[in-house]
Amino acid sequence: MSDPQGGPQRRDEPEVPVQETPAVPGGGAPLLSVESVSKYFGSVIALSEVSTSARAGEVTCVLGDNGAGKSTFIKMLAGVHRPDRGGIWLDGARAEFGSPREALDAGIATVYQDLAVVPLMSVWRNFFLGAEPRRRLGPFSLFDVAAARRITREQLAAMGIDVRDTDQPVGTLSGGERQAVAIARAVYFGARVLILDEPTSALGVKQAGVVLRYIAAARDRGLAVVFITHNPHHAYPIGDRFLLLNRGRSMGDFGKDEIDQAELTRLMAGGAELEELAHELARTDGAAPPESAAQASRLLAEDADELDRE
Ligand SMILES: Nc1ncnc2c1ncn2[C@@H]1O[C@H](COP(=O)(O)OP(=O)(O)OP(=O)(O)O)[C@@H](O)[C@H]1O
Ligand SMILES: [Mg+2]
Repeated sequence: MSDPQGGPQRRDEPEVPVQETPAVPGGGAPLLSVESVSKYFGSVIALSEVSTSARAGEVTCVLGDNGAGKSTFIKMLAGVHRPDRGGIWLDGARAEFGSPREALDAGIATVYQDLAVVPLMSVWRNFFLGAEPRRRLGPFSLFDVAAARRITREQLAAMGIDVRDTDQPVGTLSGGERQAVAIARAVYFGARVLILDEPTSALGVKQAGVVLRYIAAARDRGLAVVFITHNPHHAYPIGDRFLLLNRGRSMGDFGKDEIDQAELTRLMAGGAELEELAHELARTDGAAPPESAAQASRLLAEDADELDRE
């Protein structure tokens, strides 16, 4: 019998059938497959024939400029929108979600940029919002505060998140820490696919680095992560797969071995468009334009280097 892990099966283990879609990082069938999905809003083609996949223990990055269709794409995965064409497969089975609740029950957790947190509530209350641990006391069922505090502290620590005091209001945490709590929460409640819509876009270089580390922690816990960003320097170091969107169309769905950071940056920066913009701006204010899109890329790369040094 073949073993998806490639190792010998121990004799004392019961023989288990080989899974059709083993959740093996870097190999096997994807946990999540998206095949030629399209979405129209009236006459607006928000997405046209877009495909990609996400594997357990890997990060799939979805890149694109404003209005490219990134949020529309993940809202289909999250059960907010239904695709008009194409389909989504989870663990090899067709997934048709009628609501975000159905997607969540299937193990797809989504962290939106405007996090659904209550700023004045404590960290641990937010962690358990809508899913409070209960303790029975005779005929009553009580919210088990002690357990909630303990689990929150343990789970944050397990993700390497150092929140000084889980009683402090979530509103006092930095943007990066709030994202981190939302990621830890999704991991704890059993998500298999974690979708993050631009978690780093509102953050400074240092805080963005913090969030990237938590994305790596979720990946290392075996989740398939779908990471939306328009920054190739945030995507490339952590990504295993890159879907590039431009005005609702796919500009490619690349494995990491099929594209390097320079090419990803070039495709994202829209090389020719940047060059044209540089000339246009120079004519207006009289300043010397950057000699080329390459210079703009270099400036972006410096930003990334700064991030690497954090
Ligand atoms: N509910 C909707 N009704 C009509 N048009 C919509 C709707 N949602 C999105 N669109 C349109 O679909 C296109 C893609 O939007 P989307 O929000 O998915 O882009 P995005 O890549 O997430 O952009 P951003 O980086 O600004 O968040 C846009 O032209 C947008 O105006
Ligand atoms: Mg968006």
